[in-house]
Amino acid sequence: MSKGNPFILSSGKVPHLYIDRLMQKNKIIEDFCDEMPSNQIYMLTGIRGCGKTVMMTDIERQLEATGDFVILNLSIDGDLVEEWAGGLYDHPMMKRKFLDLKLDFSLLGIGASIEKSEPVSDISTAIRKMLDVVRKAKKKLLIAIDEAVNSEEMKRFGSLFSIFLRTDYPVYLIMTGLPQNIYSVINSKTLTFLTRAPRIVLEPINYTLMRNAYKEVFKISKEESENMAVLTKGYSFGFQLLGYLLWERRMKKPDASFKDILDEYDARLAEGAYDKIWQDMSESDIILCKAMVRADSGSISNIRNEIGCSSQSLNNYKNRLVDRGIINVKGHGYIEFSLPRFKEYVLEQISMAE
Ligand SMILES: Nc1ncnc2c1ncn2[C@@H]1O[C@H](COP(=O)(O)OP(=O)(O)OP(=O)(O)O)[C@@H](O)[C@H]1O
Ligand SMILES: [Mg+2]
Repeated sequence: MSKGNPFILSSGKVPHLYIDRLMQKNKIIEDFCDEMPSNQIYMLTGIRGCGKTVMMTDIERQLEATGDFVILNLSIDGDLVEEWAGGLYDHPMMKRKFLDLKLDFSLLGIGASIEKSEPVSDISTAIRKMLDVVRKAKKKLLIAIDEAVNSEEMKRFGSLFSIFLRTDYPVYLIMTGLPQNIYSVINSKTLTFLTRAPRIVLEPINYTLMRNAYKEVFKISKEESENMAVLTKGYSFGFQLLGYLLWERRMKKPDASFKDILDEYDARLAEGAYDKIWQDMSESDIILCKAMVRADSGSISNIRNEIGCSSQSLNNYKNRLVDRGIINVKGHGYIEFSLPRFKEYVLEQISMAE
């Protein structure tokens, strides 16, 4: 990477050129900060690379700045309940208070044993005791889980969390996940309390703001920057990638235009996102995508002719892809890919299979 490239491809941390989804973000922040929150759980979902992790990180950062939230990031790969207990105990905002109260969780492998105190041997009791302290300190506990999946650990975590939620502890939860994973988490029998929690499907990032960012960074015309913004379709990863590649090219060729990097844009979209998206697709998803490209029109009736299936089947195929954020319904009877250059990607897949 060249020095000074303001675009970043690594995921997770909030990028320098960040196009805020202000409305969606503020809804969550306002709710969590409210004295009588209408929701204490939010799930962020959307296709790979749409910006879920970044949005969650940004929300955490903003809530942390209020000073009212104790924030714990739990890793889905570990034992969530253990991480919860251990992480809360060690949290810099709380640790001193727990020590002063002589909370002894040494039997659980958390902290050291404390003289003249009754050691706690049950992890949910340990968490409850710590939450009592959090509440007394007028703080709220926010748990953040990236890439939630329907695992045994998730179920164990969820059932404990729901008990604290029901008994009015100041516990908050934000989770991200691919639509199919979030769907499976919500439909898990033990996690029914999540059914009512709002799911926020990340919307495309704002065109005008993207255009302005490109215009300013590259000192290009409004028209050229507009064309670049269109080429990202509001896909967060696409926005960073296109800017990143143009920056790199301009280091070698200062008057390069985005047209010079289209091939590389396609290749890196595939490598960084589309190959994985394609692998996660079912056979019917692939049939529909290929038919959309072959029919060379978004018209549902043309696509149905191409596949030769019933309109009910087509409807099912279509709804699956809409839910996963791969296609959009574009007015009555029309669909389109929501991801940039995805048509070109599918074309490539077709030609490779032939
Ligand atoms: N609001 C935004 N404005 C500009 N760039 C963004 C924004 N959100 C995310 N990005 C960029 O998009 C890329 C993908 O972001 P992120 O990793 O958050 O996506 P994700 O939805 O969590 O993906 P995955 O499903 O693979 O975990 C990163 O390069 C990130 O810097
Ligand atoms: Mg992510």
